[in-house]
Amino acid sequence: MPHIFARRRQQLMDAYGPGSILIVPAAREQQRNADVDYAFRQDSDFYYLTGFEEPDAILVLCPGRQGEQVVLFVRPRDRDAETWNGRRAGVEGAVDRYRAEKAFPISEFETELPRLVEGTRQVCFTLGRHAPLDKIVLAAAQRHRTQPRLGIDGPDYFADPLAVLSEMRLHKQPQEIETLRRAASITAQGHHEAMRIGAPGVGEWEMQAALEFVFQASGSQRVGYGSIVAAGENATILHYTTNRQRAADGDLVLIDAGAELDFLTADVTRVFPVSGRFSPAQRAVYEVVLEAELRAIDACRVGRAAQDVHDVAVRTLTEGMVSLGLLDGNVTDLIASEAYRRYYMHRTSHWLGMDVHDVGRYRQGGEWRSLAAGMVLTVEPGIYIAKDDTSAPIALRGIGIRIEDDVLVTDDGPDVLTGECVKEIEDIEAMVASAPRHVSRISA
Ligand code: GLY
Ligand code: MN
Ligand code: MN
Repeated sequence: MPHIFARRRQQLMDAYGPGSILIVPAAREQQRNADVDYAFRQDSDFYYLTGFEEPDAILVLCPGRQGEQVVLFVRPRDRDAETWNGRRAGVEGAVDRYRAEKAFPISEFETELPRLVEGTRQVCFTLGRHAPLDKIVLAAAQRHRTQPRLGIDGPDYFADPLAVLSEMRLHKQPQEIETLRRAASITAQGHHEAMRIGAPGVGEWEMQAALEFVFQASGSQRVGYGSIVAAGENATILHYTTNRQRAADGDLVLIDAGAELDFLTADVTRVFPVSGRFSPAQRAVYEVVLEAELRAIDACRVGRAAQDVHDVAVRTLTEGMVSLGLLDGNVTDLIASEAYRRYYMHRTSHWLGMDVHDVGRYRQGGEWRSLAAGMVLTVEPGIYIAKDDTSAPIALRGIGIRIEDDVLVTDDGPDVLTGECVKEIEDIEAMVASAPRHVSRISA
């Protein structure tokens, strides 16, 4: 089987061609406090091209350059450092295991780069992320001008390799889709467990622990983003991640959480009644959001645009807001004036993949781009009614509902990768009523 990372590197090199040099750095470690760093996660683009998970590394691709098409700069083997902080592939591992044609210690990047840049016409590098690295790359790229007496030839152009790389990542390959399916399945199981352990008095943090236990125990390396576990009116805060409140009798709990598996993440939101039954008001809002979600999912078809998906959701939500007594007036006018934004203030979809808000343009040439088979996007309509919104019917105040699934666009229509996670009212109520399968509460 061809090495997936080698294939991607080749595709990127083919796009830029001989005469180009591409420079893609790894993520850097970030200090959290004292002798502690934030949990390290490799940069998505770097991982996509290498499968290499260590920090302090740089990939250099030189299309057409014999013996040096794929060059990795990495941390060298170091017995002492490895005893303290973990194993390193080293220069040898970069060649043997990661298929670099040549590898150097990272400390030699600054001295090797001018040689690799010499004779190229174009440097492909994303400027503006890390000033010290910008400086090294710019110095190498300008050497033929700053030191003309050397008589060397150098590049005239700078390009951002993300232009091509982001498009590659937007179009998922079968292997990536399989991984996304498994991430989605793990995510569904985690949400189900959180629903099962949910009860009045249970802390948001306990539900977070339950769902993240299932994620990790199922093989997920980390969450794709900070889990949102929002009971009661906390659900009206879109990116609530405090997760320190206990759910009260009658609360809805909104959970927006996704397991990341092998650098691909799911992104799922579900809402459930912590006491086991939706109240009539909660049910009424839920049904509107569910209808909007189902219609929007149906719009995820080849040739349509992500904007169509949003428009379908907005129309259904706005109709619902009128029937719920949240808005008053003609639906078309309420959409045109954006009155619905009082209760639905975010967009319906984003690309999904290695990053939860994944790369890829939404517009091309001034137009919304068409969906194509192999793209994966979320569909996540919601209605959020602030507790202190005196213009809303009293029974609806403090209700926040979002329903979010991950959809693969195929030639045969939308394929809901997260379909395993329950979302019909009866199924959710049955899940809340059932006993936890994997975790138990430690303190009441
Ligand atoms: N979890 C962030 C989002 O749904 O976009
Ligand atoms: Mn999302
Ligand atoms: Mn989400």
